[in-house]
Amino acid sequence: NMPRLYQRTLPIPPVLAPKSTTIGADGKKTHLYQIEQTAAMANIVVGLSTPILGYNGLFPGPTIKVNQGERITLEMDNVLPLFHPQWGYRLDTSTHLHGSASLPQFDGYANDLTGRGLCKDYEYPNFQPARTLWYHDHAVHNTAQSVYSGLAGQYHLHDEVERNLLPQGKFDVPLTISDAMFAKNGSLGYNDNTHSGLWGDVILVNGAPWPVMKVQRRIYRFRILNASISRSYRFQLGAGDPVTMVGTDGGLMPAAQQVTSWRQAGAERYEILIDFSKYPVGKRVELRNLSNKNNVDYDFTGRIMAFDVTGDPVDTSGPAARVMPTLLTGSSTMSLTPSQSVKTRHMRLKRDLDTWTIDGMTWDEVVRSGYKKVLADPDLNDIEIWEFENSSGGWFHPLHIHLVDFQILSRNGRAPFPYERGPKDVVYVGEGETVRLLMQFGPHRGRYMIHCHNLPHEDHDMMGQFSVGYDTN
Ligand code: C2O
Ligand code: CU
Repeated sequence: NMPRLYQRTLPIPPVLAPKSTTIGADGKKTHLYQIEQTAAMANIVVGLSTPILGYNGLFPGPTIKVNQGERITLEMDNVLPLFHPQWGYRLDTSTHLHGSASLPQFDGYANDLTGRGLCKDYEYPNFQPARTLWYHDHAVHNTAQSVYSGLAGQYHLHDEVERNLLPQGKFDVPLTISDAMFAKNGSLGYNDNTHSGLWGDVILVNGAPWPVMKVQRRIYRFRILNASISRSYRFQLGAGDPVTMVGTDGGLMPAAQQVTSWRQAGAERYEILIDFSKYPVGKRVELRNLSNKNNVDYDFTGRIMAFDVTGDPVDTSGPAARVMPTLLTGSSTMSLTPSQSVKTRHMRLKRDLDTWTIDGMTWDEVVRSGYKKVLADPDLNDIEIWEFENSSGGWFHPLHIHLVDFQILSRNGRAPFPYERGPKDVVYVGEGETVRLLMQFGPHRGRYMIHCHNLPHEDHDMMGQFSVGYDTN
């Protein structure tokens, strides 16, 4: 039966307020935030109540906004039930701030679990350039179901360059896109016996199915996060109207790119600008999903959301209300050159029965080795080229490397897509593809995870680790 497309107003998750702010001896601010992870009920589908897990009970969680150079201590309280109410596993959690170069002890290591009734203080440095990050659960073997249940939220790092260049405030809009399936009683469905992935038939944006947003005839900025646990999208606006891509996972691109469609897998973030002044009042502009290979599609998974262009008075305050920025600058990652690389490593992504591996390694092996096994051991500040070859047959893998931003040098020997020409921390490794990445390891020493961000793959057991600045023998 026909779902209610474009009837719910796009919800905007609330911005979380700090509990307190202190100024250190160095003059820098530290904001203290507190979040309770709780079981809650959400109204996702009209007329139904859905049991979820949420940061402060919200699906998705509240947005955290911070300025570069200001530190955050985030107290994460686990007040979840002891066991997942539907799927029965123990609800120990580990929180990862995806996109942050955090110290290892605050990076949400999969086995660094916080049990029910306990809390952990996570410290985030926020020294990196402006970007869209997200925080989500990373508990070993259960990340997929916990994120699917709702443990995910956006986190925006601002800086001077970005504040003067791109739309701010209500014209800077988070779009967290996910998919889900629902049982008749409203509960979330989950069905993945082969650990291949979960594909829902309902598309959610900020937790609402196929919503609509009223817009003024000016430029808006959208921070698109694919928080789906498996699905990848090929987004298109209207009938292929160009959007201006300005940011990738790690922040601003060196130059804005005009794009008519783009592929986006789990955990990838793209920041786009859309100029609604070129549409007449009353126009409905749809954001669609043209779909990629090896996803499971349903009747309405090609629809995402709509923008209704209004005749409301246009607020032109703030940057880029009328004129698109072109030169952006921002990240030093994009000025690295391959000749600076001291080592090239090649790793294969594979499936062995029901287990997925990175260069033959599984997370189980890492744990059994007492965390000694590593896929790579660069020295602090080394620059390296990592090459990933997807020889797993009919699967794509969004590969995520913690700690670093990287530059995509090539895909199958060819230039990366125009929209990938910015700092990244997740790379779409499509079927039969080989990608080459360039990155610098730092500024912290320690062990960090690397894994597939199709979360059922990660849980079974497509995750390894690398060490920075250690002698690992
Ligand atoms: Cu978005 Cu290791 O995670
Ligand atoms: Cu994968």
